[in-house]
Amino acid sequence: MRIIEVSDYKQMSEKAAQHVIGKVRSLDCMTLGLATGGTPQGLYGELIEDHHVNGTSYKGVKTFNLDEYIGLSKKDPNSYFQYMYTNLFSHIDISPDNTHIPSGTAADLGEECDRYENMMEEAGGIDLQILGIGANGHIGFNEPGTSFQSGTHIVELTPSTREANARYFSSLEEVPRKAITMGISSIMKSREILLLASGKSKQEALKKLMENEVSEHFPASILKEHPNVTIIADTDALKLI
Ligand code: GLP
Repeated sequence: MRIIEVSDYKQMSEKAAQHVIGKVRSLDCMTLGLATGGTPQGLYGELIEDHHVNGTSYKGVKTFNLDEYIGLSKKDPNSYFQYMYTNLFSHIDISPDNTHIPSGTAADLGEECDRYENMMEEAGGIDLQILGIGANGHIGFNEPGTSFQSGTHIVELTPSTREANARYFSSLEEVPRKAITMGISSIMKSREILLLASGKSKQEALKKLMENEVSEHFPASILKEHPNVTIIADTDALKLI
């Protein structure tokens, strides 16, 4: 794992954007894996600005998002579908047909998991996966204890993850209890991974990531076994390392 230390959130976002833009510009077509949450919002803002100023085109880009809440429709302001359209897709020239987000309202969720996994495979796999990290080491919504062999699956969210994400909802009660997420093996199939982390709240997670053994108790630890991972983190997040 390569670590790039930057001074703050803004620099983390800029550095990550340079990397993504470089890839998008160098490949005629590519598949990007996308994350949600507070961490990549700045990155998406940088991509939008670059698209407007420098004309980087996303016509050849396919995207696959990591996860979605179970029970939230595409119209729900807290769905990751809405997040992606508000924070990125509606501001760039990507074709909606090329954007993929697992459905949290599919009648048969097991079938939806298989469908999503197959679509990623048919697209030729993910060239570059963007990741954030949860305080308990979750990546996507793969909570501690998730099998490293898992493909796209349904998860029960831990109380700490629901509490961390409650800031986007009007109450903790409203935070869904389940989600559909790419699995650890889906994420590990990506050819390259960019993990972003900013701020004090990520200190412990990054320390554990660097120091703990590879274990399903701390899902992100598996990244140490991937051949091409870059962590872009700010000084606050890296303080304990
Ligand atoms: C969420 C998402 C993850 C994200 C993580 C950290 O629950 N499912 O993909 O990386 O938690 O979120 P944040 O960036 O807001 O700290």
